[in-house]
Amino acid sequence: MSLEIVVRKSVCSQNKFIQAVIFLVLCILAVSGHSMQLIADDFDREPIRYRDSEPNNPISKLQQALKSSTKSLDYSPLSGYLASLLKALDVPENSQTLVFSKTSLQRERISPDRPRALYFNDDLYIGYTQAGEVLEISVADPRLGTVFYSLDQERSKTPFFMRQTDSCLLCHGGSQTLSVPGHLMRSVFADADGQPLLASGSFRTDQTSPFAERFGGWYVTGNLGKQFHLGNKIFTKQQSHRDVDWSKGMNLKLLDTLVDTSPYLQNSSDVVALMVLTHQSEMHNRITRANFQTRQALHYEDALNKALGEPTGHRWPSTTSRIKSACEPLLEYMLFTEETPLNSEVIGSSTFAKTFASRGQLDRKGRSLREFDLKTRLFKYPCSYLVYSDSYKNLPREAADYILKRLEEILAGNDKSEKFRHLSPSDRTHIREILVDTKVIH
Ligand code: HEC
Repeated sequence: MSLEIVVRKSVCSQNKFIQAVIFLVLCILAVSGHSMQLIADDFDREPIRYRDSEPNNPISKLQQALKSSTKSLDYSPLSGYLASLLKALDVPENSQTLVFSKTSLQRERISPDRPRALYFNDDLYIGYTQAGEVLEISVADPRLGTVFYSLDQERSKTPFFMRQTDSCLLCHGGSQTLSVPGHLMRSVFADADGQPLLASGSFRTDQTSPFAERFGGWYVTGNLGKQFHLGNKIFTKQQSHRDVDWSKGMNLKLLDTLVDTSPYLQNSSDVVALMVLTHQSEMHNRITRANFQTRQALHYEDALNKALGEPTGHRWPSTTSRIKSACEPLLEYMLFTEETPLNSEVIGSSTFAKTFASRGQLDRKGRSLREFDLKTRLFKYPCSYLVYSDSYKNLPREAADYILKRLEEILAGNDKSEKFRHLSPSDRTHIREILVDTKVIH
């Protein structure tokens, strides 16, 4: 079979499968009364042109490397391309988290007995279901925000990442993801089949969510002390948030009693990995939104200047204010404004925390933004390590300038507003010194 035919065949089977699943999802959403919006989004127009633009990210680079045979992927009968893909992309296996609610694409294959596994590093996320037709991938593309791919789980001579737009944006491109192509973290009341009991309510999760609203539909291993959460619990129709048995499923070292983890790469769904995933997924969404909204404001200004005969680059107050409102929410999240405080120490169940922290860029005193605290908050120095990521570094210059100026103001102690009150003078000094040493600020 020629290379082209193999590729086409694999593309076809991936697309057919995804189309079938999407049809099913649409039917379910229609029956449950959800309204659907499938019209072209703002991000499909100039200057973003999400669907039409060529991506440039770790997956498109791996695709090139596979094409030129400088890299290859191995197939294993148990988990297909999963282990090899994680290795090729430098995604640690111990980042594994397990979600058993039927809330995502391959819902038919997900249940409390067969949870979906997610793996991630700073730039990308990989979803795996047992006997799934595809691996699902979301990746931070510095210009396009989150870009989605599927990889056929059938053995092939030429594994091919199929870029997916509509099918994923159905859930990953609306109000749940700040109206940009983005990541999702949900917490639901799932029944014994993994079906979310939506009448009981559901939560969007980020670092400001109370623990009592987190992790519904997820497995959670590790110790959270008395911080009760919705993880490891199965609900029936009669139950609601008010009558949850909070003592159930707390502080499990292993999942043995709940699920057979032997088909997975790890036996954990480590709470520390879950907390980092929680921080990071929303942080990526805010970076994407700041990026898009700033470029859109500049694009609009350009057209206005042309129409009114003003010189190129003439700055309008409305542009300055749009850039501010695009960047301020990113800045707050990045500095952990309103992070839910911890009231007991959190202890992970795997080597995730160690691996994660060891990847930090150290300053000359040996400090890094990836050091954990886990006693009163997630990180020792509350400023997101994603300031070193390609997507942060590729923010439009006007957005980057705005954020830097504000960062300096806050870290120098000149912004005493409520939003940043959680940063003590010594927090501000530590963060400032780390950022200067690691060349984020000068
Ligand atoms: C029916 C809604 C739905 C569709 C369609 C969907 N997803 Fe998701 N996805 C979710 C939800 C909800 C989560 C959060 C974890 C969970 O509940 O499983 C998620 C999480 C993910 C994650 C983990 C990190 C992140 O980005 O949030 C990846 C990777 C992912 N999806 C990839 C995809 C890809 C690729 C497609 C399209 C081929 C897709 N998804 C289509 C609902 C969906």
